[in-house]
Amino acid sequence: MNEHRALRNAFGQFGTGVAIITIADPQGSTLGLTVNSFSSVSLDPPLISWCLANDSDMMTQFADANRFCANILSAEQQELSNAMARPGTHELGPCHVETSASGDRRIVGALACFDCRVHERIVAGDHIIYIGYVESVDCAETQAAPLLYFRGGYAGLA
Ligand SMILES: Cc1cc2nc3c(=O)[nH]c(=O)nc-3n(C[C@H](O)[C@H](O)[C@H](O)COP(=O)(O)O)c2cc1C
Repeated sequence: MNEHRALRNAFGQFGTGVAIITIADPQGSTLGLTVNSFSSVSLDPPLISWCLANDSDMMTQFADANRFCANILSAEQQELSNAMARPGTHELGPCHVETSASGDRRIVGALACFDCRVHERIVAGDHIIYIGYVESVDCAETQAAPLLYFRGGYAGLA
C-alpha cells in the first residue's frame, strides 16, 4: 500500500457528517458542492470552515463568491449529496432551494443552514480552507437522522 492510500484510509476513519456548500451564480442559479470537510471553528466570533480541492471544477466560482451557505444534510438527502459530487453537474434545481433574507441559497430539508460571508481563504497543500463568518443560521426542528460518511462510504447511526 502506498503512503497516499494509507493516509486516505486513515483520514477515512474519522466519521463525519455531509454538507453541501451553495452559492448563487451571476446568472441567478444555485451551485452546490458536496463536502465532508465542514467543521465548526469558533462561537465568538461565529466561524465555520470547509476545504475545497485545488482541482475542483468549482474553483473559479468559489473564488468569485464572497458569500456561501453551508447546508448540513439529513440521511434522506444522499441522492442530492451524490448529485453535487459529480463533476460538471453542480446546478441545483429550484425545487431543492430556498433563498434566505440575505440572498443565500439554502437547501430545503437540510438539518441546518449557515449563511456565511467569506472571512478568509487559506492555501493549504492541495486544498483551500474556506473560513466563513456565520451571519445567520437556521436549525431544523426535526429529529431526522444526519447523513454520515465513514471509510469512504455513507454510513448509518448504529
Ligand atoms: C461525501 C463526500 C465528501 C466530499 N468532500 C469534499 C471536500 O471536503 N472538499 C472537496 O473539495 N471535495 C469533496 N468531495 C468531492 C466533491 O464533492 C466533488 O465530487 C469533486 O470536487 C469533483 O467535482 P468537481 O471537480 O466538479 O469539483 C466530496 C465528495 C463526497 C461524495
